[in-house]
Amino acid sequence: MKTDVTAVMVEEHKLILRMIALVEANVARMEAGRFREWRFFFDAVDFIRNYADRFHHAKEEDVLFAALVANGMPAENSPVAAMRMAHDQGRNFVRGMEEAAQKAAAGELGQIPGIAENARGYVALLRDHIDKEDHILYPLAERVLPEAGRDRMVAAYAAAAAAMPQLEAKYQTLVAAWETREAA
Ligand SMILES: [Fe+2]
Ligand SMILES: [Fe+2]
Repeated sequence: MKTDVTAVMVEEHKLILRMIALVEANVARMEAGRFREWRFFFDAVDFIRNYADRFHHAKEEDVLFAALVANGMPAENSPVAAMRMAHDQGRNFVRGMEEAAQKAAAGELGQIPGIAENARGYVALLRDHIDKEDHILYPLAERVLPEAGRDRMVAAYAAAAAAMPQLEAKYQTLVAAWETREAA
């Protein structure tokens, strides 16, 4: 049995998907006139930037995708290139969602369609992206990456986590808090 290099990433997807479900639900409630807590969208932007992007996507790009390229996958016009492109597209949706939410919080009217459009764009993009990673790219990585080098990958994941202590706990707490609000 080879050293696993994707299970920890699949676990992180689960927390990202929980936040995505919250975004989807709160956008629908906002459009129905039952949700005006702009703070949620700032929390979602914070989560996506710091947990999904600076932590999870950075580990993919710097460790997992880099290992695939080092083991023969082309860097361009390839699955890892497509995954990197999706990470970039996600950043644009997040910027759009943040800008519209900032205007809404400042009292500017008419921002709901802008929040909703960018939020839904992100939700659809990331669900599709995570599905492809969980079911295609990660299983491929587990098949093709040699055992030599896997310990170094696990160590690099651990170093990323150590560089951001409390990150996992902070965002687990944030997601759980909004889920509790939803259920209330
Ligand atoms: Fe990714
Ligand atoms: Fe991912």
